[in-house]
Amino acid sequence: MPKKLRLGILGGGGDSLIGVLHRVASQINDNYEIVGAVFNPDYKANKAFAREIDVPLNRIYEDFDTFIKEEMKLPENERIQVCSVLTPNFLHYPMALKLLENGFHVICEKPMTTTLDEAKKLQKAHKKAGTVFALTHTYTGYPMVRQMREMIKAGVLGKIHKVDAVYYQGWINTIIHDKKKRASVWRLDPKKAGISSCIGDIGVHAFNMVEYTTGLKVKSILSDFNYLYKDNAMDVDGTVLIRMAEHVKGVIRSSQVATGEENGLAIAIYGEKAAFRWEQENPNFLYVLSDTKPTQVYKPGHAYNSKLSLEGTKLPPGHPEGIFDSMANIYKGAAKAIRGRKFNDGEFPTMLDGVRGMNFIEATVASHKGGNVWVQLE
Ligand SMILES: NC(=O)c1ccc[n+]([C@@H]2O[C@H](COP(=O)([O-])OP(=O)(O)OC[C@H]3O[C@@H](n4cnc5c(N)ncnc54)[C@H](O)[C@@H]3O)[C@@H](O)[C@H]2O)c1
Repeated sequence: MPKKLRLGILGGGGDSLIGVLHRVASQINDNYEIVGAVFNPDYKANKAFAREIDVPLNRIYEDFDTFIKEEMKLPENERIQVCSVLTPNFLHYPMALKLLENGFHVICEKPMTTTLDEAKKLQKAHKKAGTVFALTHTYTGYPMVRQMREMIKAGVLGKIHKVDAVYYQGWINTIIHDKKKRASVWRLDPKKAGISSCIGDIGVHAFNMVEYTTGLKVKSILSDFNYLYKDNAMDVDGTVLIRMAEHVKGVIRSSQVATGEENGLAIAIYGEKAAFRWEQENPNFLYVLSDTKPTQVYKPGHAYNSKLSLEGTKLPPGHPEGIFDSMANIYKGAAKAIRGRKFNDGEFPTMLDGVRGMNFIEATVASHKGGNVWVQLE
């Protein structure tokens, strides 16, 4: 039995939203052991959290530079092999870059960087490093999302006409109307989040879902943002028209002020023969629509699903798996790649998805600021 991969974690402390998802997901398929971290920029809080979750304190570092310096002193067979970057956005690039330059494998949160230029530089560094880079577009790990990808590839929908992806949340509605509260949220601070809040944080997931499932690339976009207040620099709502190919068009709707919405990511893909409808909040039901036949419901774990989908379920049908399992599937794919084993195309989002995502974010901001004009993606 191979040894577990030695995993380091940056960010994702006890005060964070996403840390627990990565910690649990990394354990689900027994591939990783968390051996070192900088969970928090405050060393005291960092150590206190490590104590709480039982990570040995000897590799809980004061900051990222110390992490690199001390880990590089260790023999390779003890050193951290792969590191998850779970900090606010502006730290992804400097951390991922230095990790790659020092030969680590990287699992990185989205958006990959804060600019397209950084994304391209990271892509270069990744090519040079030759290590594995996985980007955690969490929702691509769901078995039914993977099933959509495989069925589209097999031609079940026929020629695609229209894609409608939506990602609606409401949480910023409780913050945006109060200047003081607004100033306390890093997602509304361009220095920490990058040039976009809503599109950068969640619209980019919907964009990735569109490209992941259809296998098509978005070629051009036109966006319309809402900032709600003149003195708010960050979009909190954005509607983006997309063109993917001749006669393949669609829309990405995203909002952080869709009052009462929780984590409403959903996609509908309409083709000449059939259509899909899938919702993140009910991820185990994939609806296949037809103009001539009754609606079918696909569910995970059944033998009728594709290999890629089936490899993402651990229990027989009827034992609901959820977001922890979805993220675990991305960690599972990354583990195969790190161990040099064969893995399926689509098992984890890659550096290319990160570059595409940053291209999308920058294009939507340029489109809105340019007077809602069409902008080409590269
Ligand atoms: N994949 C997804 O579905 C998903 C969901 C939520 C968040 N995210 C992404 O995850 C990242 C973190 O988001 P969050 O909501 O958990 O943020 P958060 O503010 O809740 O947590 C950030 C964590 O990073 C730590 N941190 C900050 N500066 C640090 C530093 N210099 N060194 C080490 N740790 C540091 C903080 O102490 C905290 O523990 C963001 O990039 C976000 O876009 C992804």
